[in-house]
Amino acid sequence: MLDRRFVAISSSMTKIRRIAINTGGGDAPGLNAVIHAAVHAAEKAGIEMLGIREGYDGLLEPQDYPEGGVLRLDRRLVQGIAHLGGTILGTTNRGNPFERPMQQPDGSFQTVDRSDEVLGQLRDLRVDALIAVGGDGSLGIAHRFAQKGLRVVGVPKTIDNDLEATVQTFGFDTAVQFATDCIDRLHSTAASHRRILVVEVMGRYAGWIALHSGLAGRADAILIPEIPYSLEIVAEHLRRKQNFARSYAIVVVAEGAKPIGGQLSVVARERGRDVQLGGVGEQVAHELRDRTDKETRVAVLGHIVRGGSPSSTDRNLGLALGAAAVRALLNGEQGVMMAINPPNLVSVPLERAVSRMKTVPLDDWAVTTARALDISFGDGQRIMTMPPDEDPR
Ligand code: F6P
Repeated sequence: MLDRRFVAISSSMTKIRRIAINTGGGDAPGLNAVIHAAVHAAEKAGIEMLGIREGYDGLLEPQDYPEGGVLRLDRRLVQGIAHLGGTILGTTNRGNPFERPMQQPDGSFQTVDRSDEVLGQLRDLRVDALIAVGGDGSLGIAHRFAQKGLRVVGVPKTIDNDLEATVQTFGFDTAVQFATDCIDRLHSTAASHRRILVVEVMGRYAGWIALHSGLAGRADAILIPEIPYSLEIVAEHLRRKQNFARSYAIVVVAEGAKPIGGQLSVVARERGRDVQLGGVGEQVAHELRDRTDKETRVAVLGHIVRGGSPSSTDRNLGLALGAAAVRALLNGEQGVMMAINPPNLVSVPLERAVSRMKTVPLDDWAVTTARALDISFGDGQRIMTMPPDEDPR
């Protein structure tokens, strides 16, 4: 439903004088690069930029921010931030203004739609357009605002790389590199003790981080949400490899992986947000110990892979997308998400961008390569191109 009052100030005929930017969902390395580039591009075009703190909370709960829920962004303020992890604006993954859980006087919770308040605040601040930087959840919210008449351009971010309409999201490269470094380190300690080391990485519905770091780190098994696993198959695979090649094993498991016919491993449920996953690494380690009689240990990488400085790839993706978002708004685009479609930066309708999640296809080149290198996915399929005793690692 279009909000008529808002359309009056944000129609594509209105000249853009002021843009707001926010970051939503889990942080990802590269967010500050987006902010940096958007501010530079806007200033160059004579446009003012405002930053909203923590998704839309800076507008809805200004009392929580002693220095103001909204801040004026200029080149001086964003100087030297492009290489920093996190986001200078802060972020939240429970800030959906369309469905906010509000505690009632009797202690119960009710879901309230506060989206009109957001539109009203933006109108009072004389904001002509919004750049919403986020993953599937935040872009879904941006899409709903676009449907209400707000001029919005989305910028895709997530370490999980699970957005369909762009070839790669920023944050992913940094996460994979760090997880790979950790797996590299775990080889020597696993080998020294002849242990099985289970490495749990983030990846809620998509196993891209586990797949790419596990392949690069030459794991023996990779367990991802897209391929339900049998630990008997994994155990059998490890036993077979240990007879020939290695006296130890590395198993990389995505937090959202589940056994055949089994469930996600959930550690907490909280109103207004996705369930918190965790514990699958422990389960896998426990069962593999029982089935192989080998000592096992678990390393849960968790939020460590989300922190730290963005790699040069993620920095450049962030810079490119931030500048492109401003360009798109100046060209009259709205209701779109900027995307990488090499060699071009393109815009795709937000509706399409959020319609489907990009999970790992079973014939993905990295899956095929892993199978060719005798890495098990716990599903019993494998393509052998070399005898296991010639495993090069
Ligand atoms: O969206 C990225 C992600 O890293 C998921 O893989 C993970 O489940 C989630 O964030 C964890 O978020 P939180 O910061 O709420 O623990």
